[in-house]
Amino acid sequence: MPTRRGVIWLGQTCNLNCYFCYFAERIADKTHPEHAFFTLQKAKDICKIFVDDYGLNSIDIQGGEPTIYPHIFKLIRYCNEIGLKPTLITNLISLANFEHAKKFKDAGVYDFLVSLQGIGDTYNKVVGKKNAFSKQMQALENLSKLQIPIRVNAVLSNEIINDLEGITKLALKYNARVVNFLGYNNTGDQKLIRDTYKIPYYDLIAQKLEPLIDTLESNNIEVNLRFLPFCIVGEKYRKNIQNGDQMLYDNHEWEASSRLWIDRPAQRRAKEKIEKRRTKYYLSRFKIHKIYRGNLKEKFIWTKKLLKPFFYPSPKYAPILPYQKPILEKLRFYTPDTKFIKGHSKVEHFYFEQKDVFREIYKSKIHHKKCESCDIKNICDGFTLDFIEEFGSSAIKPIKISNGGGEVTPTFYSRDQLKVIERAEWEWFFTKDEISRIEKEK
Ligand SMILES: C[S@@+](CC[C@H](N)C(=O)[O-])C[C@H]1O[C@@H](n2cnc3c(N)ncnc32)[C@H](O)[C@@H]1O
Repeated sequence: MPTRRGVIWLGQTCNLNCYFCYFAERIADKTHPEHAFFTLQKAKDICKIFVDDYGLNSIDIQGGEPTIYPHIFKLIRYCNEIGLKPTLITNLISLANFEHAKKFKDAGVYDFLVSLQGIGDTYNKVVGKKNAFSKQMQALENLSKLQIPIRVNAVLSNEIINDLEGITKLALKYNARVVNFLGYNNTGDQKLIRDTYKIPYYDLIAQKLEPLIDTLESNNIEVNLRFLPFCIVGEKYRKNIQNGDQMLYDNHEWEASSRLWIDRPAQRRAKEKIEKRRTKYYLSRFKIHKIYRGNLKEKFIWTKKLLKPFFYPSPKYAPILPYQKPILEKLRFYTPDTKFIKGHSKVEHFYFEQKDVFREIYKSKIHHKKCESCDIKNICDGFTLDFIEEFGSSAIKPIKISNGGGEVTPTFYSRDQLKVIERAEWEWFFTKDEISRIEKEK
């Protein structure tokens, strides 16, 4: 099933300074239009649009740091009221105080996606704050007492490589549902500030991660490797690779069309108005359905808005790139109808119809000429250019498969992956028969 999870960035205000962060510059510069936190009303309006227009049922709330957002408890309560399960992507530092942590439980947080970026002093160095690690550990203890579930994110920076075992131990100790190992991505502010010597060589990553994947999965913890090409790991571990094509089906990842809407500047900046859409009604299967589409006037206003970033005074921040324009144009008014089509949803259909457009998003990645002989190149995002410049192409190992020349679908490997589908998701993911079978087996 395609995912129904959305994401909201509440503003790039943070209590840490992780050097590899997508938003490092926006966090450092208080005058950046994305720096300030949203009003509660803006955050609520976005959440409501996710439910009404995009049929979403869960949301990752992040920033910046969402736990220091002044209206966070009201927002968590509101998400629950409108049917969005709220996850917070967080460094947890502010939850070192038990009473404060308890307020998240009382407000109805669904789970925390905790960023574990290293152990001890390595962590303090990477996040740019003394004593941050001890606070994070205290917060994990608090969540454990409060029985709030966690998932884990860890960015594969050079520094973290020797701490991956330690992070795995923490995930086991605190019963994480999922661990995501994230390739250090060169998007956002990192487009300008990533130094290639700070990224580890892929073979080293694979060597460290493979036994840890075994340990985590044997304890029923889901493991995802994101933003990494398939050929860097052995065949057994390719099921864990979650690239652009696979993430569409990952219920812990973000739904594609709402993602492109939320990525637009108006939905990222406290002071800009949300781009509202015109409502249309149509009748099908004896039900009235709502869809949102643009009209000519709206398109004209939007074109003007599109030109605005080119006159944006600070050249330091990347404007909307030319390759993003057609993607944004096609998707601005696209509304997946996830409610009434089961099996192959409209989201899926749209995604594949627009595959070439979506591929443009990953233009920062390339299929090197060595990739041409790879049998699964169609479902892989490829390599980042700066990685190839730094390390050469020897990390690329074209894959050969024996499926009789059949189509390689996005889930070719990932269908064998251990996935955690929480009880609250069952009605969406499984048929009634499947649910009764699962319940009998328990
Ligand atoms: C931008 S942070 C914001 C939420 C919160 N402050 C935190 O630290 O989790 C959200 C997630 O993005 C991940 N992230 C940030 N920069 C990244 C990069 N360059 N590559 C991959 N993941 C990154 C972080 O690890 C974190 O889990």
